[in-house]
Amino acid sequence: MLFTKFQPVNTFTVSYRISSFRIWLTGLPKLPVPPLKQTCERYLATLEPIVSEEELEHTRELVQEFLKGGVGERLQKGLERRARKTENWLSEWWMQSAYLDCRMPVAVYTSPGVVLPRMHFQDRQGQMRFAAKLIAGVLDFKKMIDTETLPVEYLSGKPLCMDQYYQVLSSCRIPGPKRDTVVNHAIGMTPPTHITVVHNFQFFVLDVYNSDGTPLTVDQIYMQLEKIWNSSLQTNKEPIGILTSQHRNTWGKAYNNLIKDKTNKESVRAIQKSIFTVCLDAPMPRVSDELYPSRVAAQVLHGGGARWNSGNRWFDKTLQFIIGEDGTCGLVYEHAPAEGPPIVFLIDHVVKYMQRTEIVRSPMVPLSMPLKLRFNITPEVKRDIEKAKQNMNIMVHDLDVKVLMFDHFGKNVPKQHKLSPDAFVQMALQLAYFRMYNTCCSTYESASLRMFLYGRTDAIRSTTADSFRFVQAMQDPNTERLTLLQKAVETHKENTYNAIHGQAIDRHLLGLKRQSIEDLTSIPEIFMDTSFAVAHHYNLSTSQVGSKTDCVMCFGPMEPDGYGVCYNPMDEHINIAITAFNSCEETNAARFARSVEEALLDMRALLEDTATAKQ
Ligand code: COA
Repeated sequence: MLFTKFQPVNTFTVSYRISSFRIWLTGLPKLPVPPLKQTCERYLATLEPIVSEEELEHTRELVQEFLKGGVGERLQKGLERRARKTENWLSEWWMQSAYLDCRMPVAVYTSPGVVLPRMHFQDRQGQMRFAAKLIAGVLDFKKMIDTETLPVEYLSGKPLCMDQYYQVLSSCRIPGPKRDTVVNHAIGMTPPTHITVVHNFQFFVLDVYNSDGTPLTVDQIYMQLEKIWNSSLQTNKEPIGILTSQHRNTWGKAYNNLIKDKTNKESVRAIQKSIFTVCLDAPMPRVSDELYPSRVAAQVLHGGGARWNSGNRWFDKTLQFIIGEDGTCGLVYEHAPAEGPPIVFLIDHVVKYMQRTEIVRSPMVPLSMPLKLRFNITPEVKRDIEKAKQNMNIMVHDLDVKVLMFDHFGKNVPKQHKLSPDAFVQMALQLAYFRMYNTCCSTYESASLRMFLYGRTDAIRSTTADSFRFVQAMQDPNTERLTLLQKAVETHKENTYNAIHGQAIDRHLLGLKRQSIEDLTSIPEIFMDTSFAVAHHYNLSTSQVGSKTDCVMCFGPMEPDGYGVCYNPMDEHINIAITAFNSCEETNAARFARSVEEALLDMRALLEDTATAKQ
């Protein structure tokens, strides 16, 4: 076994005071800069199954030149210097290139959503009771953040950097003309004590702490939500929040225009500063049980369009919980401050909290009416809102989502056959893609770099020469298919090991490229050829985000002709969310889902038939 799943350790051994958390953080190892030759060799190996022989030959020559001509060595030395001088040589560059410089809308393009099981309420009382408990659950989680008593997670016996947990509450992205920023109000002099609640496109400030610093009880929160509901019954309000779903340059301009007005500026600031947002959504059109999770995935990713719940969001807000009157439950989060695992860990905590909490009537201390946030809609703002509505509707029509609740087996089957479940699912995705397109493609799987100080992610490239041999062999029953599957899984596991230990190639290549920009030298040719472009055109952008709760994370594709695939392998079943774009004729989320299902079943049959034959 390479490493174990994240394991919270005994809380007693890991309670820290504020200062000791920072001290503890600096005890984590720094992200290494991998050896240059190793990255170059591994890069060439990853190209093998995805580029033509001529392209590969050309790239081999460029790589030789890069290694021997001194350019590579110079950039490598620059990176190593940077690594010595900074806490993490990658984090700032990564934050910029992956998130803050990215100009596409955050909705659908970068913000992941989480689909939770359907809740058993069908009316506003149920919705608000549920919302009140959920809010109390998040505040209970926040207690661990505030007291720095969050249990440290471990991977492969090594502690993980917990910093991301400290970035998701009270933070918000702010649009800029060329680059966005993220503000974290938790670390300011006056950390917020309010959340924002949005209903019928109207935003409210809800103070969630009493004057003595204790959090409101579930009962108190419920009462406050009722007041919010009652004062937001009109449905003809401008969906101001939809502005945040725009292309970032467009939103950047609209933002400056919006906050010219003092009232607007204060309202926007109250949202940005809030601990998190709760979106009380209007009911969506009913669909069959089979389609239900796919419909919720769309709702958490984009809100359903201008006439549904897309204006019931502030997409820049890091954490937004979505609770629909029809029992819908999920969340959407802005990706810049954190990856999926801390978010689902928070969900697991909240779900557990909600199971044990019942509404207990608390003594009625009158609480003031939650503040309704006012916006002055000038003709210019109105025009920006209209544009945002149109663009959102285009995005909604373009997103193709299918959530597959694969219930034939889960992690148990690959484990019984001594295979890594994650590698097994990745090979099923390879097989599914090959069967649909008769070729393989560049595939990205996120790998955690949290063993290192301020570590985020690197990529596991799931398409390898071994995965390609395996998927080809699956076409022909007379081949050693099982051996090839085992080999492909083993290679994936090795690549995973390398990635989580800071020895993958993608962030290193990014670093070398950024170093050449920093040095004001011309960008080396290895970053400009066809192979580099093919290697970075991820038709399959994938991630495993496991949780205890029966939920699934979802995100949009990385490429216009690609798929986004996020999965949660549970013991007995696997939840898989697949996205694509309708504007691409070649992709189809439901078809890909069927192909994945068939691939998983065929791979199980392969394991079981061979096991039976051996008996
Ligand atoms: N035989 C039997 N069991 C095995 C096995 C084998 N050969 N290999 C692994 N297992 C077991 C593991 O012990 C583990 O057991 P558990 O369920 O009791 O914990 C389980 O199978 C899962 O292991 P595996 O499937 O190999 O991988 P993983 O769950 O450790 O995850 C990554 C691999 C890459 C997903 C993980 O390391 C990672 O980096 N996660 C972060 C992803 C991320 O940040 N995503 C961002 C999204 S926004």
